[in-house]
Order: sequence, then structure tokens, then C-alpha cells
Amino acid sequence: MPKANYDIILRNGEVVDGTGAPRRRADVAVKGDRISVVAEPGGIGDAGGAREIDATGRVISPGFIDTHTHDDNAVLIGPDMIPKISQGVTTVIAGNCGVSLAPITLSGTEPPPPLNLLGGLEHFRFERVTDYVEAVTAAKPRTNIANLIGHSTLRLACMDDIGKKASAREIDAMRDRLAEGLDAGAIGFSTGLYYKTNAAADMDEVVALAELLADKGGVYVTHMRDEHDGILDSLQETFETANRAHVPVVISHHKCAGPNNWGRSRETLPVIDEARKRQTVGLDAYPYPAGSTVLEPDWVDEEIRILVTWSTPHPEKTGQDLADIAAEWGCSQRDAAVRLNPAGAIYFQMAEEDVRRILAYPPTMIGSDGLPHDSHPHPRLWGTFPRVLGHYCRDAGLFTLEEAVHKMTGLSAETFGLKDRGIVREGAFADLVVFDPDSIADRATFENPKQTAAGIDLVMVNGTEAWADGEPTPLRSGRFISRA
Ligand code: ZN
Ligand code: CU
Repeated sequence: MPKANYDIILRNGEVVDGTGAPRRRADVAVKGDRISVVAEPGGIGDAGGAREIDATGRVISPGFIDTHTHDDNAVLIGPDMIPKISQGVTTVIAGNCGVSLAPITLSGTEPPPPLNLLGGLEHFRFERVTDYVEAVTAAKPRTNIANLIGHSTLRLACMDDIGKKASAREIDAMRDRLAEGLDAGAIGFSTGLYYKTNAAADMDEVVALAELLADKGGVYVTHMRDEHDGILDSLQETFETANRAHVPVVISHHKCAGPNNWGRSRETLPVIDEARKRQTVGLDAYPYPAGSTVLEPDWVDEEIRILVTWSTPHPEKTGQDLADIAAEWGCSQRDAAVRLNPAGAIYFQMAEEDVRRILAYPPTMIGSDGLPHDSHPHPRLWGTFPRVLGHYCRDAGLFTLEEAVHKMTGLSAETFGLKDRGIVREGAFADLVVFDPDSIADRATFENPKQTAAGIDLVMVNGTEAWADGEPTPLRSGRFISRA
């Protein structure tokens, strides 16, 4: 009688291991939260698994790492994490774009945009990152989460007037909070220099914070000051900042925004390549020609299509085009944006040509930048990973399946220092996805964004089956994870 040596054995799948190496047919055995054995088919012999799963014709890959999220609060108030787990994401990196839920306690006034992308006033209640980590652990989300500390959050917590550059005293206060966060397990520091809450910070202010990462470990991640006409200057600012702070840097959601700049990834990618010869530079991107964030009247130029994703005073306008709302109200689009605020929007600001060139660039990692609290969210929240694997890999042939998986697993784990994640090998955490490479596809659209993916059979998080046959299981086993 074979005895059950393992908790789960996945038999006869095609293992795409996350390193970029060619796929190979294998059996994978899981015990506890780790992968115990990866062997030739039949190589595990008749050592039984408590549960045996036939993965014939399916790919077994590492669980996807969503490198760019705003899931800080989602893991607490929506710990089932259905938009993410349903597309094979087993780890989210939160706190991007200078915006993190901790460390700050707000009282009195609502958080200014873009902090309000994470939720209202009552959700900002973590004075220390340690408190946030405790809350995550208690919430037991379905996916793992790792956190960056956001510069706008630090500025709001420590400064009298965030419209100015920080004083020496305010920088010290921010450094103390950032140090506490890194000691509590945060994996880096993010800026969103594009946003009003962060824009007054000059390079000296950013360096004074980012340089803490050189001692404590961690990555500097930046939503750059300008992704429009000034993109080349912003790239230089990014490289110089990271260089002065002696830290690795990740460029967030790289894009060339605005019709003026369409096609300019032909210029930006060679510049990034040059910098990569001198310093450690990574980047992430999502697979759509539209971005999404708060609706800021100053950004409304009547040149591109803008779609409203939420509005506090006018929730009935959610899902409508700003141009149509302005026509109905008999006002300019800018005035309509003022009336809709606070609000969020999707901006159709990129060229498909750039999206493809940036996705295909070998150093590019995949990050959804999904906004989990929007009532009519950008479809990237639910569709990013299957869209890369189905639409861009299988159908458009931008890269091999091995490369696509590497961009969403091994490369991401390596960049952010997530030990024993993002790889299928013996001893690694059993964060795994079993999917059908022929049918995997995103179903979320701009019109109908809250749709699960097709072709995802099974998702395991820390050795636990978290999503199976199109449904969440009763088991949640995500953890707060920090750097190796
Ligand atoms: Zn951003
Ligand atoms: Cu973002």
C-alpha cells in the first residue's frame, strides 16, 4: 500500500519554472507549504499524495507576482482577493506610486488624492507598519502581500504643508517612520512624483529617504514625475536619484503618455538599457493602452478618451465617458471633472505600439496597477496576467510562454528579494498555478471589467489550494512577506 508521503501531487504537467528555462514534463509533489519534489513523470513512484491531481496538457508555473498594486487595504477589507487569485496571482506588492496605507493615522479630513485610491479616512489607522502587519496577519488574505512605504503617506504624516519641499526636521521625521517600516518588513520605498502630494519633493528629499534602503535593504520604486513630454528628463532624474542613494530602482508602469509621445518607447527603452549597464534598473508594465487613477481636472485636455470609474457626488455617472457627461451637462470636460470630484478615471493615453514594445522588452515585469476599490475598475484589475499569457503571448506572439512566465514570477521575485518565491523547484514555497495554455484568456473588458479569467484550473498559495475550478476554496493562507 503506498502511503501518503505528500499532501498533493500534480502529475504529468508541463513545468514552466519561472526562470525562463524551457518547459519540461514533470510531477510536482507538495508537502506543507513547500514544493518537496520536482521529478520526471513517474519519478515520484507510487509514493502517494493525499490528493492527486492530473495535470496532463496543463502548465504548472509559479504563482504570479503582481509587482504593482494598490491592494494595501484590499487585503484587509476584501481578504478573499478574488480579482487577483482568480487570475493566478499569489503575491501582491502594495504601496506603489508613493501611496501606502501605513504608517499614518488620519483624522478630521478625508485623504487627498491619490491617497483616497486606498479608501476613506477611517481606513488610515496604522501609525506604524508593525500595526499594519498585525492587521494583515489577522485578516489572513488569500494571497501573500509585500509592502512598499509611500512617500506621499510619509509626507502627509510628517509635514505641515505638503505643497512645499520638506524641512530638515520633517525629513528626519519621515526617515524615522520609513526606518520603522523597513524594520517591520516592508520591502522598499515608493514615490509618486507626478502627484500633488509628492511633486514638491526635490531630488535631495527623495535621496534622503531612499538612502535608508542602502543600509536596510529594499528597492526604490517610482511613478516618475513626468510620463508625458518630459519623460526623458524624468528617466534621468530617476537614475540619478537611485545612483546618489546607492539603491536599485524600479520604474513603475512605464509608458509614453499623451498623443505627442506615442511611439517614443523607441527612445526610452535604449535609454533604460544604457542605464542598466551602470546601475540596477527594473521596470513594470500592464498590458493595456489605457491608464487609470484619480480624475484630476488639470489633466483633462479633451484630446484623449476619459472613462469615469467612480465619483462620490455622481455615482450614477460611473462607467460613462467624460465627453458624454460634459455634453449632457452642457459644460466643458474640465468643468464636468470638477463636478464629478472626488472621482477616478481611465485615460486612453498610450499607443498600442508602445504597450507591445515595452511588454516585449526583456527586463519588463508584469504589474497590474489594478484599483481594487473602484466601482467600475480598469479591466487590468481582473485581467492583467491572463491577458499577457493569452492575448500577447499565445495570440500576438510577443514572447515565448517561458519568457512571459518569467516576467511575472522569477524576475519579479529576484528584483524585490522575495526568497523562494517565483520559482518551481524543490524547497521553494508552493505558490503554484495550473493553467491551460490553449485557453487561458482575460474576460474583463473596459465595458464589463469585473470578470474572472478563462483557463485557470488551480491556484495554490503556500501549499494550500486557494482557487479551484473557477471558485475560491474555503482556505486562505496568504502571509505578509518581507525580503530574504
Ligand atoms: Zn502610478
Ligand atoms: Cu499605481
